[in-house]
Amino acid sequence: MKNILVTGGAGYIGSHTVVEMLNMNMNVVIVDNLRNSKEEALRRIEKITGIKPTFYKVDLLDRSALASVFRAEKFDAVVHFAGLKAVGESTQIPLSYYQNNVTGTLNLCELMIKHSVRNLVFSSSATVYGDPHKTPIKESFPRSATNPYGRTKLMIEEILQDLYDSDNAWNISLLRYFNPIGAHPSGMIGEDPNDIPNNLVPFISQVAIGKLNKLAVFGADYPTHDGTGVRDYIHVVDLAKGHIKALQKLSENPGIQAFNLGTGRGYSVLDIVSTFERVNKVKIPYETAGRRPGDIAVCYADASKAEKELGWRAELPLEDMCADTWRWQLQNPNGYE
Ligand code: NAD
Ligand code: UFG
Repeated sequence: MKNILVTGGAGYIGSHTVVEMLNMNMNVVIVDNLRNSKEEALRRIEKITGIKPTFYKVDLLDRSALASVFRAEKFDAVVHFAGLKAVGESTQIPLSYYQNNVTGTLNLCELMIKHSVRNLVFSSSATVYGDPHKTPIKESFPRSATNPYGRTKLMIEEILQDLYDSDNAWNISLLRYFNPIGAHPSGMIGEDPNDIPNNLVPFISQVAIGKLNKLAVFGADYPTHDGTGVRDYIHVVDLAKGHIKALQKLSENPGIQAFNLGTGRGYSVLDIVSTFERVNKVKIPYETAGRRPGDIAVCYADASKAEKELGWRAELPLEDMCADTWRWQLQNPNGYE
C-alpha cells in the first residue's frame, strides 16, 4: 500500500496519520473541504516531515470534483476520515450529518469501484457500541446508536458490510476509535476546536491557559471509583500508527474486519484533571454539574484483537497525552490561526 488517498487529512486525526504515513514513505493525497480544519495544518505537516502532501480542496459531496481527483491520481487504498463529528450538533442538524457522512461515503465508494480501488480504512467510533452491557468492550458486542452522529457511523459500517458481501474483492478495516486526545510531540499539529470545546481534554486545556474559567464535571454520581465518567483515552499518535498497521493488513486480503483502537484502560474525568495538573504544573478549577444527557458511565476497549491481528498496541501513557496536549496549546494559543 503505497499510494493513499486520505479524506479529511487536514483534520485532527487525519493530520497526525498523514505525518506517520509520510514517515513510512507513503505517497499521500489529501482531500478535505476544510469545513472543520485549516490549510495551515498542511503546512505544519510539511514542517514536521519535510514532505508536502498533495492537497485537493474538495467536498466529498461534490461528485464531479471528487471524480477529477480519482482521474488525476492513482490509489492503492483510501483512509476515510472525512465526516462531521459533533454529537450535540448532530441532534440539531441531523440531515446535514446523514448527507455529509453517509452520502459522502457513498460518493467515495462509487468512485473507488469505478477506479478499481478496493482497500478502505474507515474511521468508525466506540459510539457504535451505544451503552455497552459490560466492559471491556469487544468488537463482537451488539451495536446501537443513541444520536444521529452515532447512527451515521453505524449506517456506514452496515453499508460497507453490504459492499463487501456484494464483492469479496474488497478489503475494509472498520477502526473503532475510543477517545483520541493529545497532539504531535513537536507541538506543531493538534486538535483545534472551532468553538467552545465539547470534549473533555480540549476543554481542560483551554481552562489551563485561561480562556475558559472552569471545567464543569458532568456527573459525579456514576458507579465508578470516584463517581465521574470513565473513558479509554488514547494518544492520537498511537491512533495514527494504528492506521498504518491497518493499511499493511489490507494487503493480506483480510476481507472486512472491525478493530477497537484504544488502550484497554479507563480513566475517570477526575483522573484526567489530576494527571493534567500534575504533569503540566497547572491548576484546573472545576465544579460538579449534572450528568450530560446521552453520556454513559464507563467505556473502555478490549484492544486485544488489534494487537493479535494488526500487531498494534497503544504505547503512550496518559502523562504523554497530557504533556503533548499542553505543549500544543502553549505553542498555539489560538490554534492554527
Ligand atoms: P476533524 O473534524 O478534525 O476532521 C475531519 C475532517 O474532515 C475535517 O478536516 C473536515 O474539514 C473534513 N470533512 C468533513 N466533511 C467533509 C466533506 N464532506 N468533504 C471533505 N472533507 C470533509 O475530526 P477528527 O477528530 O480528526 O475525526 C476524524 C474521523 O474520526 C471522523 O470521521 C470522526 O467521526 C471519527 N472519530 C473521531 C473521534 C474523536 O473523538 N475525534 C472519535 C471517534 C471517531
Ligand atoms: N466531560 C466533562 N466535562 C466536559 C466535557 C466532558 O465532565 O466539559 C466528561 C464527559 O461527561 C465524559 C468524559 O468527560 O464522561 C469524556 O467526554 P468527551 O466529550 O471528551 O468524550 P465522549 O466519551 O463523550 O465522546 C467521544 C467523542 C465521540 C465518540 C466517543 C466514543 O466525542 O464522538 O468519544 O469514541 F463517539
